Amino acid sequence: MQGSTGKRAPAPKILDLIRLLPTLWRQPPLALVAAREKYGDIIRLDVGNRLVVHMITRPDYIKQVLQDNHRNYVKMSLYHNHLFKDVLGNGLLTSEGELWVRQRRLIQPVFRHQRLVPLVSVVTEETEALLERWEGYYRRGEPFDLAEEMIELTRKINGRILFGDDIIGDVVDRARRSFSKGSRFIFLTGGLIPSPQRRLFRQQKQILIRTVWSVIRERVENPTDSDDMLNALLHARDRKTGEGMSLEQLRDELLTLVFAGFETTEKALTWSWYLLSQNPGHFDRLARELAGVLAGRLPTFADLPNLGFARRVAREALRLYPPAWVMGRRALEDDELGGYHIPRGSFIVINHFGMHRHPEYWRDPERFDPDRFLPERVASRPRFAYSPFGGGPRLCVGNDLALMEMQLILSTIAQKYRVCVLPGFPVELEPEITLKPRYGLRVTLEAAPRAPEFTPRRPLEV
Ligand code: HEM
Repeated sequence: MQGSTGKRAPAPKILDLIRLLPTLWRQPPLALVAAREKYGDIIRLDVGNRLVVHMITRPDYIKQVLQDNHRNYVKMSLYHNHLFKDVLGNGLLTSEGELWVRQRRLIQPVFRHQRLVPLVSVVTEETEALLERWEGYYRRGEPFDLAEEMIELTRKINGRILFGDDIIGDVVDRARRSFSKGSRFIFLTGGLIPSPQRRLFRQQKQILIRTVWSVIRERVENPTDSDDMLNALLHARDRKTGEGMSLEQLRDELLTLVFAGFETTEKALTWSWYLLSQNPGHFDRLARELAGVLAGRLPTFADLPNLGFARRVAREALRLYPPAWVMGRRALEDDELGGYHIPRGSFIVINHFGMHRHPEYWRDPERFDPDRFLPERVASRPRFAYSPFGGGPRLCVGNDLALMEMQLILSTIAQKYRVCVLPGFPVELEPEITLKPRYGLRVTLEAAPRAPEFTPRRPLEV
């Protein structure tokens, strides 16, 4: 590093840390917001003599780490090595260096805009099936857990997108529950300490890996012409070398897409419904947009640009409750952020949750206001004030798919029902690997305002 001032970033006092502990334990994202308010946009934490952590909550710092000087910041961290990599192997989310460059080149085209078109009917068909199930809840006025419903819906959609059908749904569900059950302990110990949770976690992980293997083998032995991602990845060839990926690599990529694809989207949808239930005026506006554009039919790909408010609702939900609420990196060499010295080896915590509520960049940050995402308002903010999908070269490869999925699901359901969270139902932040409502979300359904007769029919393909 040239010309470093060597200035150390502000560090919290021990007493403040102790005061923060209960919040840090119970609702860590709120503790990170409080820490930023007290100490500023960069905070240094020395853990013993050897481990230095910097938490950053400022667009230009985040830009430097994720984009401008991204080569200096790798993903390698305790969690990566012992948790994510343990399950996902060397898939796109966890790999680094040459392997990552090659795989990104192979995988990115599978998510191209044009390839999303046939996925629209997968999303709307599954959402229609969900609405049929919900009919009973509606008629009986029966409360149910919306978080579980969003998990099942997005898991089925993801299964169809990846494998042509929800063939490994049960295995994924069991694995998800075991990861989720032990995640707090495993997370805090970096997966290093033996425990019943870790044993269960490992057991389910093995079953999941074996299942994905058997799906790949079956497809190799009995090829199909399905346009799912398994086929697309199996036949993907590097435009530079003409080479494809090994079957081991394909397995890791599929495991990655299984989890990266639905764990995140289902949480974002659950939070979207929560926010709409708390802001009935915004729900009414959404319902008006849907009545005007769709008049009771299912959305198509061609409708998406006309469903601007639905998309802004999704983006605003991702601001207030980013599923990836923090993100980690490690500095390979010394660097400087905002005049503060970042020593080589330092861990960087990107505080997305705090960034998305930073009052310097978001007026009245706690307020749900989808119009923050009108183009002129987006243009008035620094790009990295909002990064629910990360940024720079490692920007989420599925971001267009995720936003499209959210827009379609919100638009299909909100034409029929208004979701109402049970009065007094506790909603607290539970950060597992992604951010979820701790007790789920118990809701009842009401008919959406001015809901026209819903006429399920196949969407027009474009
Ligand atoms: C609302 C939904 C989603 C959110 C909030 C989200 C968030 C993110 C974030 C923050 C990253 C960057 C991680 C980092 O740099 O450390 C990421 C990467 C990634 N996401 Fe997503 N994601 C979502 C949906 C999806 C979907 C639908 C897929 C695919 C089916 C997907 C696949 C991936 C992959 C493969 C990466 C690794 C990219 C790379 O490093 O090259 N994600 N996602």
